[in-house]
Amino acid sequence: MKIALGCDHGGYELKNELIKHLQGRGIETEDLGCYSTESVDYPVYGKAVAEAVVSGKADLGIVCCGTGIGISIAANKVKGIRCALPYNEFTAQMCKQHNNANMISFGGRTISADLAIKLTDIWLDTEYEGGRHQRRVDMLNA
Ligand code: RB5
Repeated sequence: MKIALGCDHGGYELKNELIKHLQGRGIETEDLGCYSTESVDYPVYGKAVAEAVVSGKADLGIVCCGTGIGISIAANKVKGIRCALPYNEFTAQMCKQHNNANMISFGGRTISADLAIKLTDIWLDTEYEGGRHQRRVDMLNA
């Protein structure tokens, strides 16, 4: 399993914490930038990670900006991406179980690294339920 990650300056530190954690779990990561806290434009990085996921270069993607909002909007512009912004344990579980989210997003200024790591683990460890949800996911893709 390979996870692509991206961020803007507002999510840079959180992204680094997530990479450290994922590597500790033995998961391969690809860091698509940015690579410092210098101000950059989040749409560039949301798009880069989303394209890595839809092209199959990565299995899943995680993006971080100040709030997690702008970069998730950017990712969701790419056809085939379902980027969720989980904010608690329940939404981290449901975004995989029901929505089969292939990306998640966090805000470096809105969530602690500990919580973001916990929600990432829940998302990774939850199975997509399929069944009645597949029709809805197909509608999202169409
Ligand atoms: C950048 O200051 C900030 O707007 C960005 O990180 C993000 O929060 C946008 O949604």
